[in-house]
Amino acid sequence: MTVDRKRSVVFGEAVEQYEAARPGYPDRLVTEVLEYAPAGPVLEVGAGTGKATASFAAHGVELTCVEPDPRMAAALTRRCPQARVETGIFEDYVPDRAFALLYSAQAWHWVDKDRRWDLTHAALAPSGAVATFWNRYGISDPDLLAALAAVDHGHGVTTSTMHQSHSFRAEEVEHELSRDPRFTDLDYRDYTRTERYAADRYLDLVRSVSAYRILDAATREAVLREIGALIGDGVEMTFTTDLFLARRAD
Ligand SMILES: C[S@@+](CC[C@H](N)C(=O)[O-])C[C@H]1O[C@@H](n2cnc3c(N)ncnc32)[C@H](O)[C@@H]1O
Repeated sequence: MTVDRKRSVVFGEAVEQYEAARPGYPDRLVTEVLEYAPAGPVLEVGAGTGKATASFAAHGVELTCVEPDPRMAAALTRRCPQARVETGIFEDYVPDRAFALLYSAQAWHWVDKDRRWDLTHAALAPSGAVATFWNRYGISDPDLLAALAAVDHGHGVTTSTMHQSHSFRAEEVEHELSRDPRFTDLDYRDYTRTERYAADRYLDLVRSVSAYRILDAATREAVLREIGALIGDGVEMTFTTDLFLARRAD
Protein backbone atom coordinates (compact mmCIF):
# COMPACT_ATOMS: atom_id res chain seq x y z
CA MET A 1 0.00 0.00 0.00
CA THR A 2 1.35 3.44 -0.88
CA VAL A 3 0.93 6.57 1.21
CA ASP A 4 -0.39 9.94 0.06
CA ARG A 5 2.74 11.53 -1.42
CA LYS A 6 1.16 14.93 -2.04
CA ARG A 7 0.07 15.13 1.54
CA SER A 8 3.37 13.84 2.91
CA VAL A 9 5.31 16.78 1.45
CA VAL A 10 3.17 19.69 2.64
CA PHE A 11 5.14 20.29 5.84
CA GLY A 12 7.93 22.38 4.31
CA GLU A 13 5.35 24.99 3.21
CA ALA A 14 4.70 25.73 6.87
CA VAL A 15 8.16 25.27 8.33
CA GLU A 16 7.94 28.33 10.60
CA GLN A 17 4.53 27.45 12.03
CA TYR A 18 5.70 23.86 12.38
CA GLU A 19 8.79 24.89 14.29
CA ALA A 20 6.97 27.35 16.56
CA ALA A 21 3.82 25.40 17.32
CA ARG A 22 4.48 21.66 17.27
CA PRO A 23 5.23 20.12 20.67
CA GLY A 24 8.48 18.25 21.24
CA TYR A 25 8.88 14.89 22.97
CA PRO A 26 9.41 14.12 26.67
CA ASP A 27 13.02 13.76 27.85
CA ARG A 28 11.98 10.59 29.69
CA LEU A 29 10.94 9.01 26.38
CA VAL A 30 14.33 9.79 24.82
CA THR A 31 16.18 8.36 27.83
CA GLU A 32 14.06 5.21 27.84
CA VAL A 33 14.48 4.63 24.09
CA LEU A 34 18.27 4.94 24.45
CA GLU A 35 18.22 2.54 27.43
CA TYR A 36 16.19 0.02 25.41
CA ALA A 37 18.52 0.18 22.38
CA PRO A 38 22.05 -1.22 22.22
CA ALA A 39 24.84 1.35 21.91
CA GLY A 40 25.82 2.43 18.39
CA PRO A 41 24.83 4.65 15.47
CA VAL A 42 21.27 5.95 15.32
CA LEU A 43 19.03 6.52 12.27
CA GLU A 44 16.06 8.91 12.35
CA VAL A 45 13.37 8.63 9.66
CA GLY A 46 11.40 11.79 8.78
CA ALA A 47 13.37 14.13 11.04
CA GLY A 48 11.54 17.33 9.94
CA THR A 49 12.96 20.43 11.62
CA GLY A 50 14.67 18.32 14.28
CA LYS A 51 12.16 18.39 17.15
CA ALA A 52 13.16 14.87 18.25
CA THR A 53 16.66 15.05 16.74
CA ALA A 54 17.77 17.80 19.13
CA SER A 55 16.77 15.70 22.15
CA PHE A 56 18.61 12.61 20.91
CA ALA A 57 21.64 14.67 19.85
CA ALA A 58 21.83 16.07 23.39
CA HIS A 59 22.74 12.52 24.53
CA GLY A 60 25.77 12.57 22.27
CA VAL A 61 24.62 9.78 19.94
CA GLU A 62 25.94 9.51 16.37
CA LEU A 63 22.92 10.52 14.26
CA THR A 64 21.96 10.07 10.62
CA CYS A 65 18.65 11.71 9.64
CA VAL A 66 16.57 10.95 6.54
CA GLU A 67 14.28 13.83 5.53
CA PRO A 68 12.79 14.35 2.03
CA ASP A 69 11.70 18.00 2.26
CA PRO A 70 14.65 20.34 1.57
CA ARG A 71 13.07 23.19 3.60
CA MET A 72 12.65 20.95 6.63
CA ALA A 73 16.17 19.54 6.07
CA ALA A 74 17.64 23.07 6.02
CA ALA A 75 15.98 23.90 9.35
CA LEU A 76 17.19 20.55 10.72
CA THR A 77 20.81 21.27 9.74
CA ARG A 78 20.64 24.72 11.36
CA ARG A 79 19.29 23.19 14.56
CA CYS A 80 21.43 20.03 14.70
CA PRO A 81 24.66 20.68 12.74
CA GLN A 82 26.20 17.55 14.27
CA ALA A 83 23.66 15.23 12.57
CA ARG A 84 24.32 13.76 9.11
CA VAL A 85 21.31 14.66 6.95
CA GLU A 86 20.29 12.55 3.93
CA THR A 87 17.74 14.42 1.81
CA GLY A 88 15.24 11.92 0.39
CA ILE A 89 12.59 9.44 1.40
CA PHE A 90 13.41 6.45 3.58
CA GLU A 91 12.24 4.10 0.81
CA ASP A 92 15.17 5.32 -1.34
CA TYR A 93 17.78 5.46 1.43
CA VAL A 94 20.63 2.94 1.23
CA PRO A 95 22.19 2.49 4.70
CA ASP A 96 25.98 2.69 4.77
CA ARG A 97 26.27 1.15 8.24
CA ALA A 98 24.30 -1.14 10.58
CA PHE A 99 22.27 0.98 13.00
CA ALA A 100 21.77 0.14 16.68
CA LEU A 101 18.53 2.16 16.72
CA LEU A 102 16.07 3.41 14.13
CA TYR A 103 13.49 5.88 15.43
CA SER A 104 10.77 7.91 13.80
CA ALA A 105 8.85 10.75 15.47
CA GLN A 106 5.43 11.61 14.02
CA ALA A 107 6.57 10.35 10.59
CA TRP A 108 6.34 6.55 10.35
CA HIS A 109 2.83 6.69 8.84
CA TRP A 110 4.34 8.41 5.77
CA VAL A 111 6.60 5.45 4.96
CA ASP A 112 5.30 2.79 2.55
CA LYS A 113 3.47 0.25 4.73
CA ASP A 114 4.39 -2.63 2.44
CA ARG A 115 8.11 -1.96 2.73
CA ARG A 116 8.77 -0.23 6.03
CA TRP A 117 9.61 -3.35 8.11
CA ASP A 118 11.82 -4.84 5.38
CA LEU A 119 13.68 -1.53 5.22
CA THR A 120 13.91 -1.35 9.02
CA HIS A 121 15.23 -4.89 9.31
CA ALA A 122 17.84 -4.18 6.63
CA ALA A 123 18.98 -0.96 8.33
CA LEU A 124 19.40 -2.46 11.81
CA ALA A 125 22.31 -4.37 13.30
CA PRO A 126 21.45 -7.72 14.96
CA SER A 127 19.40 -6.95 18.14
CA GLY A 128 19.05 -3.34 16.92
CA ALA A 129 15.99 -1.47 18.18
CA VAL A 130 13.15 0.34 16.45
CA ALA A 131 11.14 3.09 18.17
CA THR A 132 8.16 4.81 16.59
CA PHE A 133 6.29 7.54 18.43
CA TRP A 134 3.57 10.10 17.88
CA ASN A 135 2.08 12.96 19.86
CA ARG A 136 -1.69 12.98 20.27
CA TYR A 137 -3.04 16.51 20.60
CA GLY A 138 -5.85 16.37 23.13
CA ILE A 139 -8.02 19.28 24.20
CA SER A 140 -8.53 19.02 27.96
CA ASP A 141 -12.12 20.45 27.88
CA PRO A 142 -14.42 17.76 26.35
CA ASP A 143 -17.11 20.30 25.27
CA LEU A 144 -14.54 22.40 23.43
CA LEU A 145 -13.08 19.25 21.88
CA ALA A 146 -16.53 18.26 20.56
CA ALA A 147 -17.10 21.77 19.16
CA LEU A 148 -13.71 21.76 17.40
CA ALA A 149 -14.36 18.31 15.96
CA ALA A 150 -17.68 19.63 14.63
CA VAL A 151 -15.84 22.43 12.80
CA ASP A 152 -13.59 19.81 11.17
CA HIS A 153 -16.58 17.74 10.22
CA GLY A 154 -18.43 20.76 8.80
CA HIS A 155 -15.55 21.43 6.41
CA GLY A 156 -14.93 17.83 5.41
CA VAL A 157 -11.73 17.47 7.48
CA THR A 158 -12.09 13.81 8.33
CA THR A 159 -8.58 12.52 8.83
CA SER A 160 -7.14 15.18 11.09
CA THR A 161 -4.94 14.01 13.93
CA MET A 162 -5.78 17.21 15.84
CA HIS A 163 -9.03 16.19 17.41
CA GLN A 164 -8.79 12.49 18.10
CA SER A 165 -7.86 10.71 21.30
CA HIS A 166 -7.08 7.22 20.09
CA SER A 167 -3.57 5.75 19.78
CA PHE A 168 -4.39 4.15 16.41
CA ARG A 169 -0.94 4.62 14.91
CA ALA A 170 0.87 2.79 17.71
CA GLU A 171 -1.79 0.09 17.52
CA GLU A 172 -1.19 -0.28 13.80
CA VAL A 173 2.55 -0.75 14.45
CA GLU A 174 1.81 -3.30 17.17
CA HIS A 175 -0.54 -5.16 14.81
CA GLU A 176 2.13 -5.34 12.11
CA LEU A 177 5.08 -6.25 14.35
CA SER A 178 3.26 -8.87 16.40
CA ARG A 179 2.90 -10.86 13.16
CA ASP A 180 6.49 -10.35 12.01
CA PRO A 181 8.91 -12.99 13.42
CA ARG A 182 11.91 -10.79 12.53
CA PHE A 183 11.09 -8.56 15.53
CA THR A 184 10.80 -9.31 19.26
CA ASP A 185 10.53 -7.66 22.74
CA LEU A 186 7.52 -5.57 21.69
CA ASP A 187 6.68 -2.83 24.17
CA TYR A 188 4.19 0.06 24.30
CA ARG A 189 4.59 3.09 26.59
CA ASP A 190 2.79 6.41 26.82
CA TYR A 191 3.71 9.79 28.29
CA THR A 192 1.14 12.48 29.10
CA ARG A 193 1.51 16.15 29.99
CA THR A 194 -0.60 19.32 29.79
CA GLU A 195 0.40 22.67 28.35
CA ARG A 196 -1.48 25.94 27.82
CA TYR A 197 -1.44 27.08 24.21
CA ALA A 198 -2.11 30.77 23.45
CA ALA A 199 -4.61 31.21 20.59
CA ASP A 200 -1.96 32.19 17.99
CA ARG A 201 0.18 29.16 18.80
CA TYR A 202 -2.82 26.84 18.64
CA LEU A 203 -3.79 28.25 15.22
CA ASP A 204 -0.17 27.76 14.02
CA LEU A 205 -0.39 24.17 15.25
CA VAL A 206 -3.54 23.69 13.14
CA ARG A 207 -1.78 25.31 10.15
CA SER A 208 1.10 22.79 10.48
CA VAL A 209 -1.17 19.71 10.25
CA SER A 210 -1.41 18.09 6.81
CA ALA A 211 -5.20 17.58 6.97
CA TYR A 212 -5.62 21.38 7.06
CA ARG A 213 -2.71 22.18 4.74
CA ILE A 214 -4.33 20.28 1.88
CA LEU A 215 -7.53 22.38 2.12
CA ASP A 216 -7.91 25.20 -0.39
CA ALA A 217 -6.81 28.52 1.13
CA ALA A 218 -10.34 29.96 1.50
CA THR A 219 -11.64 26.87 3.31
CA ARG A 220 -8.58 26.76 5.55
CA GLU A 221 -9.09 30.43 6.52
CA ALA A 222 -12.77 29.74 7.28
CA VAL A 223 -11.81 26.77 9.48
CA LEU A 224 -9.17 28.86 11.28
CA ARG A 225 -11.70 31.68 11.89
CA GLU A 226 -14.22 29.24 13.37
CA ILE A 227 -11.59 27.57 15.53
CA GLY A 228 -10.32 31.00 16.64
CA ALA A 229 -13.84 32.02 17.72
CA LEU A 230 -14.17 28.85 19.80
CA ILE A 231 -10.83 28.96 21.61
CA GLY A 232 -10.86 32.64 22.66
CA ASP A 233 -7.43 33.58 24.04
CA GLY A 234 -6.09 30.05 24.35
CA VAL A 235 -6.64 26.44 25.21
CA GLU A 236 -5.29 23.81 27.60
CA MET A 237 -3.78 20.96 25.62
CA THR A 238 -3.18 17.43 26.86
CA PHE A 239 -0.36 15.82 24.92
CA THR A 240 0.08 12.08 25.02
CA THR A 241 3.09 10.56 23.27
CA ASP A 242 2.51 6.95 22.22
CA LEU A 243 5.77 4.99 21.91
CA PHE A 244 6.10 1.57 20.35
CA LEU A 245 9.38 -0.34 20.75
CA ALA A 246 10.74 -3.57 19.26
CA ARG A 247 14.10 -5.08 18.43
CA ARG A 248 15.49 -7.28 15.68
CA ALA A 249 15.08 -10.90 16.71
CA ASP A 250 18.22 -12.08 14.90
C1 LIG B 1 4.85 15.38 10.84
S1 LIG B 1 6.49 15.59 10.28
C2 LIG B 1 7.47 15.03 11.67
C3 LIG B 1 8.82 15.70 11.72
C4 LIG B 1 9.64 15.47 13.00
N1 LIG B 1 10.06 14.09 13.13
C5 LIG B 1 8.89 15.91 14.24
O1 LIG B 1 8.67 15.08 15.14
O2 LIG B 1 8.55 17.10 14.34
C6 LIG B 1 6.68 14.28 9.12
C7 LIG B 1 8.01 14.33 8.38
O3 LIG B 1 8.15 13.14 7.62
C8 LIG B 1 8.74 13.49 6.39
N2 LIG B 1 8.42 12.40 5.43
C9 LIG B 1 7.35 12.27 4.64
N3 LIG B 1 7.43 11.14 3.89
C10 LIG B 1 8.60 10.54 4.24
C11 LIG B 1 9.27 9.34 3.80
N4 LIG B 1 8.72 8.53 2.90
N5 LIG B 1 10.48 9.04 4.34
C12 LIG B 1 11.03 9.83 5.29
N6 LIG B 1 10.44 10.98 5.75
C13 LIG B 1 9.24 11.32 5.23
C14 LIG B 1 8.13 14.85 6.06
O4 LIG B 1 8.89 15.58 5.11
C15 LIG B 1 8.10 15.49 7.44
O5 LIG B 1 9.27 16.23 7.70
